[in-house]
Amino acid sequence: MRQNAKKTTIAQIGLGKWGINLLRNFNALPECRLKYGCDLNSDQLRKFSRDYPDVNFTSSYEDVLQDKDVEAVVVATPAPAHYDVALKCLKNGKHVFVEKPITLAVEKAEELVRLAKEVNKKLMVGHLLLYHPAIAKLAELIKNGELGEIYYIYTQRLNLGRIRNTENVVWSLAPHDISIILHLMSQFPQSVSALGASFVQEGIEDVAFLNIRFAGRGIGHIHVSWLDPTKTRRTIVVGSKKMAIFDEVSNRDTLILIDKGVDRNPDFKTFQEFLKLRFGEENGIKISNQEPLMLECQHFINCVQNDKEPLSNGENGVKVLKILAAAERSLENGGRNELL
Ligand SMILES: NC(=O)c1ccc[n+]([C@@H]2O[C@H](COP(=O)([O-])OP(=O)(O)OC[C@H]3O[C@@H](n4cnc5c(N)ncnc54)[C@H](O)[C@@H]3O)[C@@H](O)[C@H]2O)c1
Repeated sequence: MRQNAKKTTIAQIGLGKWGINLLRNFNALPECRLKYGCDLNSDQLRKFSRDYPDVNFTSSYEDVLQDKDVEAVVVATPAPAHYDVALKCLKNGKHVFVEKPITLAVEKAEELVRLAKEVNKKLMVGHLLLYHPAIAKLAELIKNGELGEIYYIYTQRLNLGRIRNTENVVWSLAPHDISIILHLMSQFPQSVSALGASFVQEGIEDVAFLNIRFAGRGIGHIHVSWLDPTKTRRTIVVGSKKMAIFDEVSNRDTLILIDKGVDRNPDFKTFQEFLKLRFGEENGIKISNQEPLMLECQHFINCVQNDKEPLSNGENGVKVLKILAAAERSLENGGRNELL
């Protein structure tokens, strides 16, 4: 990957449950040098100092901002802090990788995008699934016309936990599904509606069903829940020629291409002859078993080093956020259809 021998010096702000995974991956990348890890929790910092002796740990991200050596910052704080931290990093001339969702308000995300352009720095959002080899393969199959016209896509991201108290299940889990559907449909939708309910904590939805309508005939549907008996992470794509299943937790093939559908017979005499159901082969598609998170981290550093635009850039973050914000309005209004 590396066309540039220089290591990029980076820092990470936010070392919580997800942040530790990012820290592990960035620290393992030969293309960069992790100079700082930053968190408000001093117990965490003590533990990390033992595990990562070459990294400086601090509880103040001012240290990171002031250090001219630091070229890029990974922001893995809870979502309400993304805007402030990312803004300060960009203003101090750092490239930024910010976890999803980019911010909680569209105008603030748009401001980050504008600022990143002004200061000529990369802004990338952690839409992890776009870096999953199965999604990359599925997008390629769709682009090559293998599935035909995409009729509809639905996703399920369900489990018991992890229950959050600062954001509902839509903000916590649906960014992944929205980013997948936008990527596979290659277009921005016209409207969204969302129905959800709060059972565990008042006012914080535990389950939601989102419906997304695209121009033409395409539709998307997302089911997210942290109050579910099964761990399910599936994306199903139904096209005019073929169908596909991407199952993130399958221990067999993660991506299956299925030759099923309905064929029209132009020389029909009866209705039975007009529409013919096709039950063709199911093929497990070979995909690389590289860790998506490692690929995502590599992509960020590659974009910084070689002045490339990230696949999940700030604009992509804004698109996902617009759908999240509209889904939130819809939830508040009993499932009303929201134009985008
Ligand atoms: N891409 C994915 O698959 C994925 C998965 C889980 C979470 N996330 C995202 O990662 C982010 C973090 O999630 P998490 O589950 O690790 O949350 P968490 O609450 O476990 O950790 C957040 C950490 O940030 C620290 N922090 C908060 N404000 C800070 C500040 N000003 N300076 C330094 N540290 C600060 C907290 O002390 C905490 O340790 C969220 O945006 C979440 O949406 C992404």
